[in-house]
Amino acid sequence: MTTATKDQLDVERIRADFPILATILHAKAGTAGVPLAYLDNAATTQRPRQVVQSMVDVYEKHYANVHRGIHWLSDQSTDLFEEARGKVAAFIGSASTEQVIFTHGATESINLVARSWGDANLKSGDEILLTEMEHHANIVPWQQAAARTGAVVRFLPITDDGRLTLDKFDEYLTPRTKLVAVAAVSNVLGTINPVQEIIARAHAAGALVMVDAAQSVPHTKTDVTALDADFLAFSGHKMLGPTGVGILYGKRELLEAMPPFMGGGSMIRRVTTSGFEPAELPARFEAGTPPIVPAIGLGAAIGYLNTIGIDAIHEHELRLTRVAHEVLTAVGGVRFLGPDPEHKSGIVSFTLEKVHAHDIAQLLDRQGIAVRAGHHCAMPLHKRLGITASSRASFYFYNTTEEVERLGRALEEIKRIFRRK
Ligand code: ALA
Repeated sequence: MTTATKDQLDVERIRADFPILATILHAKAGTAGVPLAYLDNAATTQRPRQVVQSMVDVYEKHYANVHRGIHWLSDQSTDLFEEARGKVAAFIGSASTEQVIFTHGATESINLVARSWGDANLKSGDEILLTEMEHHANIVPWQQAAARTGAVVRFLPITDDGRLTLDKFDEYLTPRTKLVAVAAVSNVLGTINPVQEIIARAHAAGALVMVDAAQSVPHTKTDVTALDADFLAFSGHKMLGPTGVGILYGKRELLEAMPPFMGGGSMIRRVTTSGFEPAELPARFEAGTPPIVPAIGLGAAIGYLNTIGIDAIHEHELRLTRVAHEVLTAVGGVRFLGPDPEHKSGIVSFTLEKVHAHDIAQLLDRQGIAVRAGHHCAMPLHKRLGITASSRASFYFYNTTEEVERLGRALEEIKRIFRRK
């Protein structure tokens, strides 16, 4: 038995907006099949009809290239695209829309900063401080920047229960530290990092902060102005939006001082045979035709999230995480990666004694339960934890306690199967 309480959100009504969640898997002649339990939301979320419809509407009624045409359709498309930018700015508390750059995903957003800000500002001996829990997308671009500039990448250690060792932060933060790049929420551990404190302490030491918010913006309230974040990156597809669109938020004075990342149409004010003059923000960083329809879809996703309420979403996921810890603890032989539920988001990664993560994911799939297995693009973290792979269940507001309890029952069954071997 668990102490699961009744869901506060009307999850059944919400699920009706997501046709894919009603999928029945593995039905064969004479068998009913099993309902899908989609617990892989840290990899990508599903999208509701309203988001899909918003994109169909653009293609059917409003589609043309943006910021180029003099014609009516281009004006329509441009208005919708810029409206979406406004929705993103409001959702993350940006004081202006110029500080919101459309990219193709969080990975591109981080690479943009590493290339543009990094190449212009880093020099030999400078330090970039990451943490041991970073996703590869917040490691490799900095390693590449270090290779180009001679800067050094350092890693703030984590505790055994997957939290940052903030008592060591000042030791790692040296006069040479130019930038701290940190995940607001770990994509493996689920740990919610104290980003506000990290930013304040980094600023006091003269360093800028890049926040990888791919796993936090979809789930908890984000206010870039209150945080005083210098740069913040996230993706549309992890928050009900389509793939192919991401956001880079940057402080105006930083973005204005940075050279354009990519060259092409839109990002220029003037081009001559001898050179070019870059455009103002945000066009300066949006070379070529941007992800027009995905951006509008992201705007619709934000509209949907706002109708549910980000605080209600966070509460619901915390409840699911508590239930997951209870049911997985009851299985026995489960090692949780990361802290207790009170310090994490809706991500529960674990190992099960004597069973490989890939076997777990495959056997869960037979029960209709979708989880991710492997290193989750965080190999240094897995090495630090002394493992090569883990299984990860990750929740969104459309998941139910019943689905989490199914996960527990399925793991008990897997444990029984392996005990017999
Ligand atoms: N970054 C995504 C994950 O952690 C793909 O699964």
